Amino acid sequence: MITVIGTQWGDEGKGKIVDLLAERADFIARFQGGNNAGHTLVIDGKTYKLNLLPSGIVRDNTQSFIGNGVVVDPFALAAEIESVEKEGLTITPEKLMISDKAHLILPIHKTLDGIMEDARGDQNIGTTKKGIGPAYEDKVARRGIRIGDLQNPEHLKSRLQSLIDHHNISIKGLGLKQQNVDEIYSELMSVKDKITPYIGAVDQSLVKAHADNKNILFEGAQGSLLDIDHGTYPFVTSSNTVAGQISAGTGLGAARKSHVVGLAKAYTTRVGTGPFPTELDDDIGQYLGEKGHEFGTVTGRKRRCGWFDAVLVKHSCRISDIDSIALTKLDVLDGLNEINICVGYTINESKIDYLPSDITIWNTIKPIYKTVSGWDGTTAGIQNFDDLPIEAKNYIQTLEDLIEKPISIISTSPERSDTILRESYF
Ligand code: IMP
Repeated sequence: MITVIGTQWGDEGKGKIVDLLAERADFIARFQGGNNAGHTLVIDGKTYKLNLLPSGIVRDNTQSFIGNGVVVDPFALAAEIESVEKEGLTITPEKLMISDKAHLILPIHKTLDGIMEDARGDQNIGTTKKGIGPAYEDKVARRGIRIGDLQNPEHLKSRLQSLIDHHNISIKGLGLKQQNVDEIYSELMSVKDKITPYIGAVDQSLVKAHADNKNILFEGAQGSLLDIDHGTYPFVTSSNTVAGQISAGTGLGAARKSHVVGLAKAYTTRVGTGPFPTELDDDIGQYLGEKGHEFGTVTGRKRRCGWFDAVLVKHSCRISDIDSIALTKLDVLDGLNEINICVGYTINESKIDYLPSDITIWNTIKPIYKTVSGWDGTTAGIQNFDDLPIEAKNYIQTLEDLIEKPISIISTSPERSDTILRESYF
């Protein structure tokens, strides 16, 4: 079993690495998040953009699972299935199973996401406005609708009634149009037949797959620093994004014994608001953004760019007990004379080597940098470690020493084949 977890603020390039590791996987499971995730896969020049579907969906030999910890927008899911089918993939119940216990994102959740973001003013989180937070809120408040409820119309209608009654109280206060249960019910019925064939007991299937010694890959979405507990709260997403969530979000307790691969970009990016100690507001930040095509897959927003932050990645390694690191987008650093790596922070003259949870002191953080040489020429497309320039090897070695984990995969372009594999998995 292998788990892939983002160690930064998401967008580390998990899609490509999951797809690569999926070659030998029998099953791939997502365990948190929703269609706020955006995974881009480039295979033989063809680009696939996935949001909710696990990245293994492009492989013929794997079955993909959407676990109970995921929140599912049924309309977005139906549209995504249609879109990948147009790209030539065939999605069948043998290829995709969605846990009957996964919660639904309804249109009301998207409306509330937008309203709450606007109400936060300059303290906004910069959410994807996909309704993720409000859907998880309803789940935790025990008034959510589960995808399995689509199979029981009477029950669905009564659950919808109490959910909408609840929300209509606050909607009335905001002077907005009241939600109508019959309208939402018929909208759901219009999409139901596209979704119900995929509903199943993901937990039981995974337990059986594990007992049968099958290769299982768990695909994390977002990144550890967006984790609701361990991230840069409140500028986070609404789920646990760390490896500890896989058992809860799939129902396979044994999942915690998987080999955990932490994904890290060779520099750092972030969409949305919140602290970012190594952010570069200068020409180098601009260079990284342009060279790395740093625009959010889901929202198209420009990503903020900065130097690699070893303090943060080490923090993420600790929380998820990461075994090895996959380093992505090394080629984006081509052409820089010098590269900085953050090795600690100074806060009011004191030096620390962790991210403080007190948000009131974030603005005073000053990164402490170690500077290493850049390299001439390009690393783009290199597939053997020995072919990397000596300075690039040195950069990788320095990161390994700082985060105290081996970097066993290095990605040198978006193409599946442009990857250096230093360890074999499964
Ligand atoms: P939400 O998940 O839409 O509620 O957004 C909360 C925060 O997480 C915002 O800063 C988003 O930009 C960020 N976020 C959510 N999903 C992703 C992702 O897949 N990659 C990067 N950032 C994300």
